[in-house]
Amino acid sequence: MKPNFKGRDIIDINDFSKEELLFVLETAKEFDPDYLKRSKRSNYTIAQGEIAALLFFEPSTRTEQSFRSAAQKIGMGVIGFNDLTLTSMHKGETFTDTIRIMESYSNVLIIRHPEAGSAKKAADIASIPVINAGDGPNQHPTQTLLDLYTILKQFGRLDNLKVALVGDQKHYRTMHALSIALFKFSGNQIFGISPKGLEMPAEFKHANYQDLPIDMNKLNETLAKLKPDIIYAGRIPKEYMKEDTKKYSYHINKQTLAVLPKNCVIMHPLPRVDEVDPEVDSSPKAIYFTQARNGMYVREALLGLVLGRI
Ligand code: CP
Repeated sequence: MKPNFKGRDIIDINDFSKEELLFVLETAKEFDPDYLKRSKRSNYTIAQGEIAALLFFEPSTRTEQSFRSAAQKIGMGVIGFNDLTLTSMHKGETFTDTIRIMESYSNVLIIRHPEAGSAKKAADIASIPVINAGDGPNQHPTQTLLDLYTILKQFGRLDNLKVALVGDQKHYRTMHALSIALFKFSGNQIFGISPKGLEMPAEFKHANYQDLPIDMNKLNETLAKLKPDIIYAGRIPKEYMKEDTKKYSYHINKQTLAVLPKNCVIMHPLPRVDEVDPEVDSSPKAIYFTQARNGMYVREALLGLVLGRI
């Protein structure tokens, strides 16, 4: 039976079964020009008359703009804010009242917020679907869906993959959720290559996850031994850390490319700072810009599904 997403909140990747993940990814293909020849869907009117409210309490480029684009591509109107100084919260209005007001003007709330648990809090207040667009250092489930979509498109499978998460496992929400999601598929091995002290929190670990804390100057040596199918790199998110983050910095560059297996790809949720050198961008291994683009197709599908229009 087809999974029913109508009216559903998208808060935590743990809430998805493997079948539901695959269903969302298969639906996303119907919005992707690379698969469009097979699609019979007329996409531009799917959600006509519906309104998406984008509540961005924290900066974003990809998530906000791809949701904005996705909503409009399926016929929705878009409202919202990304600058609190231009809202009545600047005058002291509460989070709860803001959610109540915004739900009365829209059909789905998409929220990014610096505090873990804030999307769940919004979902408890609102009676329309709430989509977590990143809640502090906790999770970013739509990023995980687009990461899975990118892997599926690249490898034709989501199982039996060796994945090296590289960077800060402790605070990096997309690594938390990707690791959990890949555990739902068989035979995946996940390695968390991090500076010492930035290992994966216990609540996101599982039987197929292994911490590899290293001196990040030894990254290329470690990757050469590991021979991963996927490197999933991430920025060191200094906004969630009090200490000087320079000591944690690392670099993926041409020397790194030279030690990787032929079919290994490099993913990154972006934004990057200096952890992936732009000299890597022209390599066929670098798929992070395609990954970001895939987010739009996944978000088109997800909006259509939670609104019950697909
Ligand atoms: N990947 C991601 O969430 O990027 P933004 O912070 O720009 O939305």
